[in-house]
Amino acid sequence: MRRITVLGVGYVGLVTGACFADLGNQVICLDVIPEKIEKLKRGELPIYEPGLEEMVQRNAAAGRLAFTTSYAEAIPNAEFIFVAVGTPSGVDGEADLKYIRSAVENIAAHLTNYTIIVNRSTVPVGTGDSTAQTLIERGKKQGIDFQVVSNPEFTREGSAIYDFLNPDRVVLGSVDPKAAEAVADLYRVFTKNLMITDLRTAEMIKYASNAFLAMKISFINEIASICEKLGADVQQVAAGMGQDQRIGAAFLNAGLGFGGSCFPKDVKALTYMAEVNGLHPQLLRAVMDINRDQRRRVIVHLRQSLGTLRGKTVGLLGLAFKPNTDDIREAAAIDLAHMLSTEGAHLRAYDPVAMENAHRILDGVTFCSDAYQVAAGADAVILVTEWNEFKQLDMPRLFNSMRRKVFLDGRNVYDPLEMQAHGFEYRGVGRPLNAPNGELVRAPEREAMPVA
Ligand code: UGA
Repeated sequence: MRRITVLGVGYVGLVTGACFADLGNQVICLDVIPEKIEKLKRGELPIYEPGLEEMVQRNAAAGRLAFTTSYAEAIPNAEFIFVAVGTPSGVDGEADLKYIRSAVENIAAHLTNYTIIVNRSTVPVGTGDSTAQTLIERGKKQGIDFQVVSNPEFTREGSAIYDFLNPDRVVLGSVDPKAAEAVADLYRVFTKNLMITDLRTAEMIKYASNAFLAMKISFINEIASICEKLGADVQQVAAGMGQDQRIGAAFLNAGLGFGGSCFPKDVKALTYMAEVNGLHPQLLRAVMDINRDQRRRVIVHLRQSLGTLRGKTVGLLGLAFKPNTDDIREAAAIDLAHMLSTEGAHLRAYDPVAMENAHRILDGVTFCSDAYQVAAGADAVILVTEWNEFKQLDMPRLFNSMRRKVFLDGRNVYDPLEMQAHGFEYRGVGRPLNAPNGELVRAPEREAMPVA
């Protein structure tokens, strides 16, 4: 049993706190927003994450997980302080470190015994060093009062608990291998694949990993656009590519581009770090450009089908940036809603869990109670988030309730030929119905291909 403090009760902090408490550790989670802590004390979550509410309630009831807004309560006596506060984008794409700075000042003010400060927030390379520097300036002795360890997280929203408990690897960086080993001991029950390196390298591994995954998505989206022009099917292209072990099948789903609180923010922050150091990170810039284009292409396609969008009714299926979360940060649906409103379209929308969040930031949208209500009277429907409940819709019912029959499948959930057979003017991403020569593109017969 270790005494662990977690600063920040967002996705990262809350999952870290709950999972460590579940192992029997004594965990206290701190946040500076009193409403969030009040909610948690009542057993309610400030965010939606499958399985987390039950885990939080169970561990709180067992006395292993507590919540506070008081640094004086959370910092003294902690053996480990996990810093999991937000690092939003600043005006130039740089990571804004105001919450980190405030956390470090408060740690300095309340530190009593030797404590390992574990940075789990995604922070610019060099932040671990400056954390140590601040503590030294506040009279604390590195190695005696504190040590700093970088421990980037690789969990996905929507499957955060699973990812935390089943990590591909755990990365730890520190100037002091013993401190890194002490943190490693917390994780050994989950994996033997623990990598110990220096602080800056650990911080960089996080950015490089997220940038690479974002690059894979932008790569396949660019290939999808080329597929559309040349009459190839990007899903089969991705399947064919993905079987090469050097490439891998994951993150090759073409769609409306990536969103969320991580990829856009981290690619921009890495770009900024490269630029202020005199570099020209062209690949990273292209990753973001392609992602923006992916949203704009929807508007172009809609205009091709409907002419002007002024006065047209467009339905959005899904508002969250991906399924199984209520997070709408940088979500494709939010970008699309803004662009469509600017074009003068009327919007109807539905999401199984993200409606409340969307309501706060979207004006003039009619929020509906299900997919069929979204489609009622619509000229076009866009499938934006691939929630399970959108995967087997009653297509004749949807078709009959729409005014015009345009269906843009932003996540390639449906079969193009089946949708065409239902009567829809259907469009997926990178899956043309017709080859450039006008021939119908058909999925191949599932027979073994003759070996040349
Ligand atoms: C991402 C990383 O996957 C995690 O490893 C990392 O820990 C996390 O960021 C973070 O830095 O905190 P997350 O943003 O929760 O996790 O979501 P992902 O599942 O990675 O999806 C990100 C976006 O990419 C979504 O909008 C999704 O729709 C899109 N995506 C993903 C695609 O468009 N195509 C794909 O093939 C995969």
